[in-house]
Amino acid sequence: DKGNHRHFMQKEIFEQPVVVAQTLQAYLKPLDGKVALPIPEFDLAEVKRVTIVACGTSYYAGLVAKYWFEKFARVPVDIDVASEFRYREPVLEPGGLALFISQSGETADTLAALRHCRAEGQKIAVVVNVPTSSMAREADLLLPTNAGPEIGVASTKAFTCQLAVLAAFAANLARAKGKMTAEEERGIVQHLAEAPAALNAALAHDEEIEKMAPLVAVARDVLYLGRGPDYPMALEGALKLKEISYIHAEGYAAGEMKHGPIALIDDSVPVIVIAPSGPLFEKTVSNMQEVAARGGRIVLISDAVGIAKAGDGAVATIEMPDCHPLIQPLVYAVPVQLLAYHVAVAKGTDVDQPRNLAKSVTVE
Ligand code: F6R
Repeated sequence: DKGNHRHFMQKEIFEQPVVVAQTLQAYLKPLDGKVALPIPEFDLAEVKRVTIVACGTSYYAGLVAKYWFEKFARVPVDIDVASEFRYREPVLEPGGLALFISQSGETADTLAALRHCRAEGQKIAVVVNVPTSSMAREADLLLPTNAGPEIGVASTKAFTCQLAVLAAFAANLARAKGKMTAEEERGIVQHLAEAPAALNAALAHDEEIEKMAPLVAVARDVLYLGRGPDYPMALEGALKLKEISYIHAEGYAAGEMKHGPIALIDDSVPVIVIAPSGPLFEKTVSNMQEVAARGGRIVLISDAVGIAKAGDGAVATIEMPDCHPLIQPLVYAVPVQLLAYHVAVAKGTDVDQPRNLAKSVTVE
């Protein structure tokens, strides 16, 4: 049932504050300032390396998680898309934890990678939205997202719920490995608990984003730029736009622009810059200025401070709430989802059932 919404995708985008809260409920003890995960059958303190495997949007959640596992738990992380992971010869040593991320829990390449890792003696953790799925059944550590059924082919609410679970898991691993103080853990719990309100604040920009959709809908190519954990958001923004509006889009690490893709820039190319203010901001803004100097039409997604500093060079800005860096990936997912959604609606494509795509990819 779409309720008041025109499409399931729109409904699912707007459900995010509620489903992220409901997902986090199972992982946070706000009164104790602790994360609380299901107890695995193995000792997390012994995890020496994490290997993350997933496809599509779930893979982008994994890219964000890599920052968190490295930063908080200081554990080396390897990450790959499932269809590549399977056909190389990854080195999987004792003490390795293999982490699979999937909305459906049935994606054929991810499931095959899981079975390979089990055969190679890895412990298996899964972040999955369908609790009865194959991946859920085959896990040593099951970390459910509680997003509810996702009907739109383009993944939205499952993605932000995956991020929420992965952040809690990173904190749990950090604690188990003795890399996080009680005070730091309390901070993480508090920031995650702020995510639903921040998601609501991001959703409040829906109409404004709808108004700027025509700017992007006429384009043949669109670039998305981000740095650090916003780089996966650039990849996600580009994927959403491609799959539902059929406009060619690419996500790039902002600093890579000058190594090739800047040759694409002219005044017909909208460039979506995802740059919350913070330690990486100045660098990304200087990449943005390189784009502006070549006539690129910039849409800057940032917070009030970032927009005040750099908004002048942009044809449009989208102001996100001021929020802690930990939850920025969840919050900044919203404007890129909404932009893709409104561009697709403006183009009249079939938003919930884009051509050539299936919700669950069970062939390899
Ligand atoms: C993009 C999208 C796909 C899926 C991918 C993995 O919007 O929905 O890229 O993310 O097919 O699917 P799951 O998460 O079910 O393994």
